[in-house]
Amino acid sequence: MKYCIITYGCQMNKSDSERIASVLEGIGYQPAPEISGADLIVVNMCSVRQSAVDRVYGLAPKLKKLKTKNSKLKTVLTGCVLKKDRLIFAKGFDLILDIKDLPHWPKLLEKRDAGQKRKEYFKIPQKYQTRFSAFVPIMTGCNNFCTYCVVPYTRGREVSRSAKEIIQEIKNLIKKDYEEIWLLGQNVNSYKDRKINFPKLLKMINDIKGNFWIRFTSPHPKDFSDELIRVMAKCQKVTPYLNLPAQSGDDEILKKMNRPYTIKHYQSLIKKIRTAFSKYRNGLEKDISISTDIIVGFPGETKKQFENTLKLLKKIKYDMAYIAKYSPRAGTAAAKLKDDVSPQEKERRYKILTKILKETAQNQNKKFVGKEIEVLMEEKKDNFLIGKTRTYKTVKTKSSKGLIGQFAKVKIIDISPWGLKGVINDEK
Ligand code: SAH
Ligand code: SF4
Ligand code: F3S
Repeated sequence: MKYCIITYGCQMNKSDSERIASVLEGIGYQPAPEISGADLIVVNMCSVRQSAVDRVYGLAPKLKKLKTKNSKLKTVLTGCVLKKDRLIFAKGFDLILDIKDLPHWPKLLEKRDAGQKRKEYFKIPQKYQTRFSAFVPIMTGCNNFCTYCVVPYTRGREVSRSAKEIIQEIKNLIKKDYEEIWLLGQNVNSYKDRKINFPKLLKMINDIKGNFWIRFTSPHPKDFSDELIRVMAKCQKVTPYLNLPAQSGDDEILKKMNRPYTIKHYQSLIKKIRTAFSKYRNGLEKDISISTDIIVGFPGETKKQFENTLKLLKKIKYDMAYIAKYSPRAGTAAAKLKDDVSPQEKERRYKILTKILKETAQNQNKKFVGKEIEVLMEEKKDNFLIGKTRTYKTVKTKSSKGLIGQFAKVKIIDISPWGLKGVINDEK
């Protein structure tokens, strides 16, 4: 029996898919090389914006066609599914399974229980997608209820994993020569296992022997303590990259979004983070690369309020920004407000921010020209090796070597806002 998992959404969902793979393989399924050869198709969906939900609607005809070819094909929907969509999707899928019930999936899929039943979700091993970079969820869920967001509804409340278990998992990964560890959580910095908070956990991971990079996502500005800033900057395995979602540059909008901080506070955090890195790091590491998440066109967002977001982008000079157009989500508090910024105006605001981002990102990348930097090679595409720097920049380099999963020294010869181009030391 062959399975195929189609994953949409954030890294948390990708990590969940790794656990699903492990459960399915535990009951005898094998990965299908192609979707057409699968007897079981699992769609792990995201509901953060309507466009994400529409992708699953878009799959329906394909799944239907596959079903006519293979009458035994079973289709399962899981991940972040909104209640109202469940009813609609119930028609298109054989089963809708909750990711929290993953330990019971063998039974629910009418397969023999392979002893997974009693295990908690976090105790299910993952089938890591690569042999060099691993997702390690440290907490799940969210208690923040930002007024636009579905995550607290689809993921439930915050639950942290035991620090002992996390450390053990990472030690095992390092023994297997993993080079990059991604700590995941919807609010990664509100992690808490008795006396161990997120900074303490980071330090414990940093103390594990070995040559590896630590990344984490996504933190919330409200929990970004001075202790975290100091620990991040001092722990040399923690890479100089931070995604700190601002969502808006306007205090009034932040209030309406239920984001409990002001822009003044946000800017002071960025300043403290940059100062700490310049104090505790050397060379290019002094310049921590910073990205953010922004929503344009939140209900009632005036032109003036939008301009405050524009000002924030100009001031912080982000390396990257994930800009989204507000999408009303059923059941959230903001869904009760009128979605009164027109699609054209949302597009206009999106384009203005993208233009500024292009400029700031290009300027941030200039410092890399002529420098030799360490890159973790991730994939090969049309004779190009593609990898990431510690600052989370994408690097493209021509190479005949199979360096995937290895660190390589690359000399940067050209840049664009979205990445760097380089040559490998001995292939110049
Ligand atoms: N926990 C993270 C983000 C999770 S959702 C945080 O607190 O920042 C990922 C991103 O999707 C958010 O940062 C936000 O920018 C975007 N997003 C969430 N809900 C949205 C909505 N209703 N419309 C548009 N973008 C949204
Ligand atoms: Fe959503 Fe806000 Fe929670 Fe992030 S913090 S997951 S944006 S509710
Ligand atoms: Fe989407 Fe769920 Fe992640 S809604 S962004 S997949 S937590």
